[in-house]
Parts: sequence; C-alpha cells; structure tokens
Amino acid sequence: SFEIALARSALTLTVPAGRTILEVLRDNGVDLPSSCEQGACGTCEATVLEGEPDHQDVYLSDAEKREGRRIMTCVSRARSARITLDV
Ligand code: FES
Repeated sequence: SFEIALARSALTLTVPAGRTILEVLRDNGVDLPSSCEQGACGTCEATVLEGEPDHQDVYLSDAEKREGRRIMTCVSRARSARITLDV
C-alpha cells in the first residue's frame, strides 16, 4: 500500500493493494472523470506535486513518465511511500 496526499483538501488516504488511486479518491468524495480505466485514454489524469509515480499506463510517453509530473489514476501507483496529487 501507499499513501496519497491530496493538496487541495489536505486529506491523506491509503491506497491498499488491489484498489486503484481512482477508486480510493471516489470513495472519499473526489470524483475524477474516467473513461477506459485501463490506462489508455488519459481522462483520469492527475498532476503529481511530490513523490514518485509507478506508471502502469500506456498513455504517457516514456519522457513524460520519467518526468513524473502526471499520473493516470486508474492504473498507476506510487514507488514512494507517499505521493502528493493536485486534487
Ligand atoms: Fe483512461 Fe485512466 S480512465 S487512462
């Protein structure tokens, strides 16, 4: 599991194994749009403010993945113990 810190609401939430960032956000009233939910379309994107994403999508380019500033919340996770998102 890892933590997501939500910059706009000052909430910190835990994403357990088997659940996605998108699901945990929705469970807590943050309703990001989504479409494919397979990491392919870019609809569920969030901006990463701190921490290291573990990219599982096929939407971002390799360069964008290395930059680590954007994350597809339907599939991607965190390498760091905590990741801060601009949501
Ligand atoms: Fe399509 Fe996440 S909903 S990439």
